[in-house]
Amino acid sequence: MSELIRLIYASRAEFEPADPIQGVEPNVGRILMQSRRNNKRGGIGGVLYFGDRHFFQVLEGERDAVNETYRRISGDPRHRQLTILSVKKAGQRLFEDWSMKYVPAEQSVREFLAARDYLRFVPLQFSESEAEDLARLFHRQQTGQGNDRGFSWRRLLKF
Ligand SMILES: Cc1cc2nc3c(=O)[nH]c(=O)nc-3n(C[C@H](O)[C@H](O)[C@H](O)COP(=O)(O)O)c2cc1C
Repeated sequence: MSELIRLIYASRAEFEPADPIQGVEPNVGRILMQSRRNNKRGGIGGVLYFGDRHFFQVLEGERDAVNETYRRISGDPRHRQLTILSVKKAGQRLFEDWSMKYVPAEQSVREFLAARDYLRFVPLQFSESEAEDLARLFHRQQTGQGNDRGFSWRRLLKF
């Protein structure tokens, strides 16, 4: 069995995002469906955030499976400027399910950005520690330890 790693990257969408009021952006919805199908097979877990036309994704799993998935994702014409922010051995998974969690644009991320003097979601510029902090924030929200009033699992699970 190869070791468990956590890879965090950011990218910029190539498509024109639909009106955010419509719920999950349709291109992002399709990506999530593909991810959920494939990631279960590869034992990959993680989280995908989409905001201000940028993606931020955490991929966790065995090294070979994460590398294979990232190679596939990096050839996808729906985004470009893929930038690896952090790749590290992981003692344990932050995202237990072998799937892909989706986090919609929300208050806690706005607070995260404001605390670091970012005016917009610009993950391509994140330092390694900022990327890891954001991954931990998403982990805390998943386990219900976040204090974000705007975050609702019911809203997410409808997807
Ligand atoms: C931002 C982004 C994130 C993606 N994340 C994943 C992922 O976690 N797992 C996955 O299998 N495909 C992911 N994809 C889709 C892949 O690039 C690719 O289209 C897909 O894996 C092909 O699967 P299929 O051959 O089963 O259709 C992602 C694509 C984008 C643009």
